[in-house]
Amino acid sequence: MRIDKFICKSTELTRSEAKKVLKSGEVRVNGEVVKNPATQVHENNTIDIDGQVLTARTSRYIVVHKPLDTICSNVDEVYPSILHYVEVDRAFDLHIAGRLDADTTGLVIVTDDGRWSHNIISPKKDCEKTYRVWLRNPIKQEYIATFEQGIQLQGEDGLTKPAVLNIIDEQEVLLTITEGKYHQVKRMFAAIGNKVVGLHRERIGCVELGDLPLGEWRYLTEEEVEFFK
Ligand code: URA
Repeated sequence: MRIDKFICKSTELTRSEAKKVLKSGEVRVNGEVVKNPATQVHENNTIDIDGQVLTARTSRYIVVHKPLDTICSNVDEVYPSILHYVEVDRAFDLHIAGRLDADTTGLVIVTDDGRWSHNIISPKKDCEKTYRVWLRNPIKQEYIATFEQGIQLQGEDGLTKPAVLNIIDEQEVLLTITEGKYHQVKRMFAAIGNKVVGLHRERIGCVELGDLPLGEWRYLTEEEVEFFK
């Protein structure tokens, strides 16, 4: 990790304050003064500011039940960021591992461990996400095979990866996908001439929303954290 980031993780300093401290020559890595904020350091290096040895805070792994009209962003826009719901220190240092649209509710994972969240976000990792979808028009059983074979999304080159469609009733389905293309679920149903009128994410990998109330959060269990390593 970059040394300026390590300083932020182990002190109350902001990134720009960390850069100032570095510039002043007060920071040492294994006894050597380091001034460049981009210098890479490892947890087993001894890093001190003016003789005070730093220890990085442990990473945080959190699940939030996202309400409607909130956004998966670190800055507020038309709607507030879901990070306002996460009542932990420095909540805005966390990042979102797989965004949901403002009009989508459900499970969102937030963390400050970028290497770990890569295993959720990267399309190469095939991490399963299950959505409950409410549709404007009735859906036919034959679409189970269509979703399994892959859907041609407008503006995309290939087909979507195989998806599992589970029909609950004519206008309510569960859909499991392993990708996270822009507006993917809405575009998949648009491609078959239907329209998503309600969308809710229930699961990412082994993490289920369960009965976590809307707008509430909890830490992931050790087993849940391990699952994505
Ligand atoms: N697919 C969508 O279309 N929207 C979401 O919020 C998530 C998946």
